[in-house]
Formats: sequence, C-alpha cells, structure tokens
Amino acid sequence: MEDTAEAIANLTRRRWEDNAEYWVQVIRDRRDRYRVELTDAAVLDAIGDGTGLRVLDAGCGEGYLARTLAAQGADVLGVDVSQGLIDAACAVPSRGARGSLSFVRASVDDVPAADGEFDLVVANHLFSHLQDPTPAIGEFARVLRGGGRLVVLTLHPCFYVENSEQGAMNGVPASRYFRQRGVDQYFNVDGLESPSMITSWLRPLEYYSGTLRDAGFVISDLREPHPTPEQLRDDPWWRKGFPTALFMLLVAERR
Ligand SMILES: C[S@@+](CC[C@H](N)C(=O)[O-])C[C@H]1O[C@@H](n2cnc3c(N)ncnc32)[C@H](O)[C@@H]1O
Repeated sequence: MEDTAEAIANLTRRRWEDNAEYWVQVIRDRRDRYRVELTDAAVLDAIGDGTGLRVLDAGCGEGYLARTLAAQGADVLGVDVSQGLIDAACAVPSRGARGSLSFVRASVDDVPAADGEFDLVVANHLFSHLQDPTPAIGEFARVLRGGGRLVVLTLHPCFYVENSEQGAMNGVPASRYFRQRGVDQYFNVDGLESPSMITSWLRPLEYYSGTLRDAGFVISDLREPHPTPEQLRDDPWWRKGFPTALFMLLVAERR
C-alpha cells in the first residue's frame, strides 16, 4: 500500500509525464511571459556569474536554465522526476556550453550526488509542485558545500490564489493561509492549456524560514520579482496578469 505522500508523489510524476511535451513547447516557444520577461532575469541576477560554479538544477524541466548556466561556464547537473522532460533536455546538443551539462531522472527527495558536491542549488518554479518540500530541502543541505547557496523561485506564499493570473483575487483567509493548501488547475499559458491538471502546493512564509533554518540554512535574501511601473502602466497583459505579488525568490546560505 502506498502511503499518502508516496501516492501524491507518484501522481505528480505521472501528471508531469503527461505534460512533458506541452511544457517543452511552452518553454522553447517562449510562451510564458512571466519567465521570459520577469522571473528568469530575477533568478539569474540572484545567482550572479555562473563561471566555475558546480550547480544542481533541481526540477530542471526541459533544461533551459541549466543550459544558460553551462553557457556561462558552470558545471550543471539537472534532475527531474519526469523521464519525458529529461529526454527532452538530453536531446539538446550542448554546443556552446563552456561548462559541463548532464541530466538525470531523479527525485529531489533523493539526489544522486555526494555530500558537499555543489556550490549552488537552484529550484526554479519547483517548490509549488512538491506536496512536502522538507525532504528536498534536507537533500539540498546535504549536497551543498558549507557556504554554498540555495536559490528558490516559487509562487508567493502570501498572495497567490487560484487563477491569480486571470485577475481573480479575493485574498487568502488566515484559516487557509496557515495550512498547507493545494490548488488544482490546468496550466493555461498564452492560451495553451495543459493536457493534465496539476496541483500547486502553497504553505505559509514561516514554513520556509523554519524549514530552511532547521536544515542548516541562513536566509540571506528575499525578493519579490515584479513588473516595473512602466510595464504595469503600458501593458494591459501585465495589469491583468499581475494583480498582486505572484512570486517569491529566496536565497539561503548553507552554514
Ligand atoms: C513548473 S516545472 C519547472 C521546470 C523547470 N525548472 C522550469 O522552470 O522550466 C516543475 C518541474 O518540477 C518537476 N518535479 C516535480 N516533482 C519533482 C520531484 N519530486 N523531483 C524532481 N522534479 C520534480 C516536474 O517534473 C517539472 O519539470
């Protein structure tokens, strides 16, 4: 008998297998304006110069961030639970990469790497897809060297509600905010709907500070990537699609 956590992890993996082709199209056709115009730049800015860094791209998807960092000269291992996405990542020739690049199907709960192997772990749009990120945070602490950094970009724990992107903001009542909550929805990116539903898992801000602290991290930065006043003034897409803070970026240092 599967326990509940295992059943949810298996469901998540199956849903990502079903969504793999869709996700490759969204990313490679640059359909997701949140990433292309906002969160990618925020993550790369938080990482800084990738030259010579040993990086784990945790939940790497089809691998675009890993490729970007390898092009800068980082040695990157990408892991993802979806075989379809790992196959898509491996299929891209690593021409132009100054560092090394490899991809392995694995769960972030059990990273195939030695203790202290990485200078940086990046989890880009991953944590909302984990029902319980605590084991993954423990693994990130294990595989980072002392002084290594964890960079997390995820949905904003305080404000994100179902269909926030569509402008439907009613706020999150405290009775829900302080419990972990799952939001079931299909991706709809630039009019393209995903074949499979996904669950976005949200938990309060204090979950992150407490779990990171207990795993041996110190939070060194917290940012809320958001459009500029000019983007909001001049572009109706941003006015509708960014009714409240949607994203949180955390940088935590391994003690
Ligand atoms: C929204 S996608 C983000 C992918 C990539 N980081 C990006 O930004 O395009 C979430 C990813 O998390 C992966 N994922 C979900 N649970 C996972 C787990 N336990 N271990 C590794 N990857 C996981 C999914 O397969 C999917 O590729």
